[in-house]
Amino acid sequence: MRMRKKSWAEPFLMENDHFVIQEPQNNSGHWKEVLKCDTLHVEIGCGKGDYFIQMSTMDPSVGWIGIEKDRNVAAVAAKKALEVTTSNRCMIALDAEQIDSWFKEGEIDTIHLNFSDPWPKSGYKKRRLSHGNFLNKYKTLLKDHGQIVMKTDNQGLFEFSLVEFSQNGWLLEDVSVDFRRNEHPEDAISEYEAKFMSLGQPIYRAIFVCKK
Ligand SMILES: C[S@@+](CC[C@H](N)C(=O)[O-])C[C@H]1O[C@@H](n2cnc3c(N)ncnc32)[C@H](O)[C@@H]1O
Repeated sequence: MRMRKKSWAEPFLMENDHFVIQEPQNNSGHWKEVLKCDTLHVEIGCGKGDYFIQMSTMDPSVGWIGIEKDRNVAAVAAKKALEVTTSNRCMIALDAEQIDSWFKEGEIDTIHLNFSDPWPKSGYKKRRLSHGNFLNKYKTLLKDHGQIVMKTDNQGLFEFSLVEFSQNGWLLEDVSVDFRRNEHPEDAISEYEAKFMSLGQPIYRAIFVCKK
């Protein structure tokens, strides 16, 4: 997601450090206490925050963390999230490359990859959030039988991801090549997803289970 630099973004992120956690490694092993929850979901690449904000509003007993590396985009998400005060969500405005230093082994219940950047050129495939290098980090951080829920409009990214998960020992629990053919009120629709749906594009979705 590209966005022009916003002069207010950086000061806003720093002023709201109770919500945008500046040193996430300090919370490693304590996220559930911080968010007052028993279940922890993490969205990596949350963009403007539509998905994790809606999902954390639907069920306040579940904790949600939105991770976004673009600090201008993260500031937009944080501003939106802070319109409603709730203790079950927060953000990390950093590159998920470092995710393994922010959480303790087995601390996360579910990771969401919602409409991740496809990085279509092969030379950039290591940047895809479903590349094997990322999957190995996620495996450590997820609990045994924890899940990754992936949704995308991009067929190429979906096919790549199915192979990566399979080659790295993940179990495929569920798959759909037209997820929105049926109603799914339990699953939020981000602005991004709505745009693809309005164009009539199928939404691909898969759930992978982490087996340690
Ligand atoms: C296409 S947007 C998806 C937004 C959102 N998930 C949604 O469903 O509306 C993908 C976002 O992932 C972010 N991103 C990509 N790689 C990342 C990384 N390594 N760490 C954190 N964020 C990342 C991008 O900056 C971009 O804002």
